[in-house]
Amino acid sequence: MFHAAAIEADSKDDFYAQLAAQARALLEGERDRVANAANLAALIYQSLPGVNWAGVYFFDGTELVVGPFQGKPACVRIPMGKGVCGTAAVTRESQLVDDVNAFDGHIACDPDSRSEVVVPLHRGDELIGVLDIDSPRASRFDADDLRGLESLAAIYLESL
Ligand code: SME
Repeated sequence: MFHAAAIEADSKDDFYAQLAAQARALLEGERDRVANAANLAALIYQSLPGVNWAGVYFFDGTELVVGPFQGKPACVRIPMGKGVCGTAAVTRESQLVDDVNAFDGHIACDPDSRSEVVVPLHRGDELIGVLDIDSPRASRFDADDLRGLESLAAIYLESL
């Protein structure tokens, strides 16, 4: 049984390095995409301060469908190109949004959410979905968070 250790870090890079090590240990030996998304979402939600939603949307061939997450109940389906998640899925580029109210087309699942990071999950041409993390604080995430969350997304993709 894996136990996530509380993280004491000297810097954000150190924090995300420790979180990445925990994610690798947590996903090791399991290839089920739902199981691994569930544990990754739980790890992120429990470890990152100031986060009110963390989870995965899967691409079903047509649109994004909510997968395992932690937080309040969420929108089930997101069309490609819509909202922050649909934008990340179409552009295949991570989205770092300081204030979701200023993002044209943002989909407000939880009205408390103010800032958001969405990392696309793809293997070569195959789109798996997106990793979505929300915070009730504006500008909660910076470039270091984005890099750290992208490394967690890469660990998830490697596990599949
Ligand atoms: N805000 C997202 C929708 C998903 S929820 O935040 C969980 C968006 O605009 O795509």
